[in-house]
Amino acid sequence: MLSKKMEKALNDQIQAELYSSYLYLAMSAYFESQGWAGFASWMRVQSDEERTHAMKIYDFIFTRGGKAVLQAIEAPQSDWKSVNEVFEETYKHEQKVTSLINNLVAIAISENDYATKNFLDWFVDEQVEEEENCVKILDTLKLIGDSKHGLYMFSRELGSRAAH
Ligand code: FEO
Repeated sequence: MLSKKMEKALNDQIQAELYSSYLYLAMSAYFESQGWAGFASWMRVQSDEERTHAMKIYDFIFTRGGKAVLQAIEAPQSDWKSVNEVFEETYKHEQKVTSLINNLVAIAISENDYATKNFLDWFVDEQVEEEENCVKILDTLKLIGDSKHGLYMFSRELGSRAAH
């Protein structure tokens, strides 16, 4: 059985994951509108992944005898200045999510809820991967600099990876 505090914190995380999904879909729409089909596809896959994160928590809450309660999701922004700005924001956002996951782990430990702590280990590992992906993309964008051709090739590359 989940404590009320743990249940509330997990429900807040469902909202945060769904917001991430919404934010990445807005970024995908921005890329689509700018003609960056590959980046748009990559972001759309990211958006879908975030929804699966939310649903993992949703299912876990029920498994532990709690109730998933959906909350309002804020509208994300719809425009950015550049490809770089989008991926910089993605990195910042993932760092924020990492700190939210760390807080959840801290709550699980303080509540002596080791089943939830074990469940959250998957998210801890996932955040390492998410942040690493962002750093790799930002490093590549730095190498590409102002080259439109380079950016086009990179968009194609990310687009094909997302399709796997
Ligand atoms: Fe669900 Fe990208 O963290």
